[in-house]
Amino acid sequence: MVKTVIVGITGSIAAYKAAEVVRGLCKQGLKVQVMMTERATQFITPLTLETLSGNPVVVDMFGKYQQGKVQHITLAKQADLVLIVPATAATIGRLATGIASDMIGATILATQAPVFLSPAMNSQMYKHPIVQDNLKHLREIGYQIITPAVGPLACGDIGDGRLADVSHIIEQVISHLDAQTDLVGKNILVTAGPTREFIDPVRFISNPSSGKMGYALARAAAGRGAEVVLVSGPTAEQPPAGVKVSKVTTAVEMLREVMEHYPGMDIIIKAAAVVDYRPVSRARQKIKKGDAELQLTLERNPDILELLGGQKGQKILVGFAAETQDLLKNAREKLQRKNLDLIVANDIGRAGAGFSTDTNIASVLHRDGRIVELPLCSKTQLAHLILDEIISITSDDKV
Ligand code: PMT
Repeated sequence: MVKTVIVGITGSIAAYKAAEVVRGLCKQGLKVQVMMTERATQFITPLTLETLSGNPVVVDMFGKYQQGKVQHITLAKQADLVLIVPATAATIGRLATGIASDMIGATILATQAPVFLSPAMNSQMYKHPIVQDNLKHLREIGYQIITPAVGPLACGDIGDGRLADVSHIIEQVISHLDAQTDLVGKNILVTAGPTREFIDPVRFISNPSSGKMGYALARAAAGRGAEVVLVSGPTAEQPPAGVKVSKVTTAVEMLREVMEHYPGMDIIIKAAAVVDYRPVSRARQKIKKGDAELQLTLERNPDILELLGGQKGQKILVGFAAETQDLLKNAREKLQRKNLDLIVANDIGRAGAGFSTDTNIASVLHRDGRIVELPLCSKTQLAHLILDEIISITSDDKV
């Protein structure tokens, strides 16, 4: 059955991007019904949204659309999901306090569908404790907040508060609506992000992992019904809803945390970029710079995945390989040495793949020699494709 997304547009300069969101959702085969605040109509016309969505746009709670029906209740009941894009500070404040003075506030109070908010505003406004408190409250009552992007803002400032990328917003909606239940009953441990190995209190060895790949996996697995524990190095990623997150800094801390959860897990996915070497000693005080060269002596960190592979039993073990050359050869060697079921090989030298990007390009190598080449896609899409590959193994009654 065609699913219905109710899109609420509020009065922000970013309102024009809502047109692209509406177009993108329609292209995905969804029915889109738009409601707007009066102020939003000063930034973009209802006619534009009506043309793109193919449906009448509702601005006035007491307007002409579907006469004889209580409009906000009708929309609230139709909704499979409500998306407010952009969500201004004023709208967020009204929603957090239950003010139903316009179509958007009233519809949201009346709906039982999941509500997604995509905030957009000046970065000082976004960081303001009142706005943050309101967002926290809305998150606590189950609303999904799509984290704004960092970048140039309409007011000329640079910072966070910029509307998230249109493709990211669409993807969040689609992955929620596509939610599957094929991982219900499975316990999954995911690792994400880098580790940091400190030289002194202010300097460390690390890598550019953002955690996006691991967080996407954790979010996708939880969305498909798994109980997920995410052991994460330092990242700026928001904790995914419904996932138990354990934050660590060093490889040794990650090992400890992974080992603690390992016995109860069915599936382990190691997307973290663990730093292989750490300084033999960590200076207690900041090392003063001098003219002489500074030598660092490093020692090996434990290979967490290899240790897990040594005590694998019936668990499914999935590793990642970040390579700059001989991708498949190196990945296969790791798959065998670490006793894995699958390894996801990403060629981090390719544009759009690897560290910190929103997209990735990967090949999944199976233990039996099969190789599945996955196209350039968002890390969320890739996460789902990797989970599909894992499910294909579990359906052999392995777990
Ligand atoms: O976080 P993002 O910015 O989204 O970037 C994603 C990513 C590029 C970090 C991710 O896709 C990825 O490739 N992660 C693994 C990076 C890595 O450490 O590759 P490796 O080839 O060095 O390690 C192979 C496997 O062994 C990995 O699963 C790693 O988690 C694990 N390992 C490595 C070293 C170590 N000491 N302990 C480990 O468990």
